[in-house]
Amino acid sequence: MDIDQLRQDTPATSELIHLNNAGSSLSPLPVFNEFLRYSRREQEIGGYEAVDEAKELVEKTYQSLATLLHVDRADLSRFENSTRAWDMAFYALPLRKGDRILTTVSEYGANYISYLQVAKKSGVRIEVVPNDEYGQIDLTSLERMVADDVKLISLNHLPTNSGQVNPAEEIGKIAQEHNILYQLDICQSVGQLPLDNSRIRADILSGTSRKYLRGPRGTGFLYTNTERIDDLMPGNEPPLLDHFATEWVDVDEYRLRPNGQRYETFEFSYASFLGFGKAIEYALNLGLENTWRRIRELGDYLREELETIDHITVQDIGRIKSGIVTFSSSKMNAQEIKMYLRAEKVNVSVGDITGALIDMRQRGLEFIVRSSVHYYNTRDEIDRMCDLLRTL
Ligand SMILES: Cc1ncc(COP(=O)(O)O)c(C=O)c1O
Repeated sequence: MDIDQLRQDTPATSELIHLNNAGSSLSPLPVFNEFLRYSRREQEIGGYEAVDEAKELVEKTYQSLATLLHVDRADLSRFENSTRAWDMAFYALPLRKGDRILTTVSEYGANYISYLQVAKKSGVRIEVVPNDEYGQIDLTSLERMVADDVKLISLNHLPTNSGQVNPAEEIGKIAQEHNILYQLDICQSVGQLPLDNSRIRADILSGTSRKYLRGPRGTGFLYTNTERIDDLMPGNEPPLLDHFATEWVDVDEYRLRPNGQRYETFEFSYASFLGFGKAIEYALNLGLENTWRRIRELGDYLREELETIDHITVQDIGRIKSGIVTFSSSKMNAQEIKMYLRAEKVNVSVGDITGALIDMRQRGLEFIVRSSVHYYNTRDEIDRMCDLLRTL
């Protein structure tokens, strides 16, 4: 990889050190330019006319996403963010009293709140699979907890608040063997590591454009294995519908679209979606294997350097670790560290207990600093941040 070129494509790298890629990454120029080009066309010829003109590019974006995830294009839908995409598939499932959902200790706050709401309304039971010695989901316990009343295995691939990578393929194998639906939140993993759903075999995937894919904000996506969901959960239906998601066939009748379009609504920011398309192409051209290797190298280097600073504790758990590096300090709280670094033009974010309450509570954590590296970051940038922390 030509890191200098990649940094030239990312102009802000000459001004600041962006270690908040798990929050929202910096978009490369081709992405930003496409966003601007399309917005200009809307201004020049009109919004509906611009979509007509861009039909092929819109379709190409779905196709690129299908290539990235190794899924069928017809099973994809576009969303404004990851949470709404996740929700649309989850709330569509006709879960009933007594059904069990298995999830993980590190489950993302928004997802867990939805389990709680459905549990409150319908009497579904939520069960958290315990962790293994690495601090990630214990597969033996998962197998042991599986039974006929388990209707859904649902968890994140990479949590919001630590570097762990959950064993998505192994979980998919268990879900297939026991004929259980499998929902995987790939919000932090898509664009960060190679994802092949023909191996993972999740029935539902949801993610965003703005994080490791480096696309514009305000765009996300959903993949649903509609056939298998219909098979295992007859009667499933998106909680919100319009005449785009369905066919209005008679005064008292509508018909769900047979594919992913049943989750979509008519209106959308096409400027963001086309920018997202460019971001996926950019990632595919670099090669996810290559970028993942570099992200891991930088992540490991950052962890090693942080561990040499006496007041810092690295908080990452898991067997395989990603580019998300979390830590705390005995000298300053997480928010103060974030603001101290920001004043020095280093961007990091803060994770609080509500992002993953069960995990944070188990580990006695209220807040953590989250520094997340991407392939365009450098060792010099990491050294600079660590030097700043050393002088605290
Ligand atoms: C693991 C995980 N899932 C889901 C989300 C939600 O994404 P969005 O803000 O696009 O809804 C996040 C956001 O940080 C996340 O870290």
